[in-house]
Amino acid sequence: MKEELGQLSISLELKTSDEVMALINHDGSLETRLPKYDFVLYLDKDLYLSTMLERACYRLFNRAGAIALCDDKMLTHITLSGHGIKMPRTVSAPLNYTGISTASFLDNLEREIDYPMVAKSNFGSLGKQVHLLKNREELEDFERRMVLSPRLYQEFIKESFGFDYRIIVIGGKVVAAMERLNRTGDFRSNIAMGGKGKKVTLTKEQKETAVKAAGILGLDYAGIDLLMGKDGETILCEVNSNAFLSEIERVSEVNVARAYALHIATSLA
Ligand SMILES: Nc1ncnc2c1ncn2[C@@H]1O[C@H](COP(=O)(O)OP(=O)(O)O)[C@@H](O)[C@H]1O
Ligand SMILES: [Mg+2]
Repeated sequence: MKEELGQLSISLELKTSDEVMALINHDGSLETRLPKYDFVLYLDKDLYLSTMLERACYRLFNRAGAIALCDDKMLTHITLSGHGIKMPRTVSAPLNYTGISTASFLDNLEREIDYPMVAKSNFGSLGKQVHLLKNREELEDFERRMVLSPRLYQEFIKESFGFDYRIIVIGGKVVAAMERLNRTGDFRSNIAMGGKGKKVTLTKEQKETAVKAAGILGLDYAGIDLLMGKDGETILCEVNSNAFLSEIERVSEVNVARAYALHIATSLA
């Protein structure tokens, strides 16, 4: 990004989040120990720091609110609901402070969603916090481990086993796409789980779904995961505010960083 912005005569100073001091003063004012920048290319997901930077009047790419909606998978699904975007049937587990999950919730859940059932921590990436539960025993085991954490349960889109589409949308346009197929026997298609990327041509419906989702969430830069249901149905899996560039650039042969740099430059003009 530094290189591509440099091509547009925009210089970027690299800083890690722990180098950025932001604080609220005793008189209630908020300030950061940063010089004046025209924008912040924010590659972290820290809700507090990103919100403070916005309060201090920096334009963030992506915006703090959009990052927060994507970081929490349940909030993403709730925000996208009611807009005609198909998603796996999804249940939010009730938050619980006692450490004990109730049988009544599990009974109700089983009435809504069949096994095998997908279970996710609301916060997670690289496929690590996504599981497939085969029966009540596995559900109870997952609940025991996760009962104090925000989590969701979801219909398993079996036609998409080990397979999905990753689409990069920048400034409301589809910029690059790949399909990801995992042949290791794992249902998760993430590259980190053994998925391999391949160049793909998207359907109109896939493009429209990706653009619509990025728009509703207010993302400048979005990595959208789409599943493929029965008869090729387009089903939204999740939206990433901080999707990696390197694999999709290699597979799609698109300079995604350049597209993002151009979007930033035109947004600021
Ligand atoms: N409901 C589902 N049905 C089928 N496969 C799913 C479902 N949810 C997730 N997956 C698979 O698991 C992968 C990881 O899930 P995802 O929600 O994208 O979490 P992460 O943030 O860890 O990538 C997806 O790319 C997809 O291959
Ligand atoms: Mg994903």
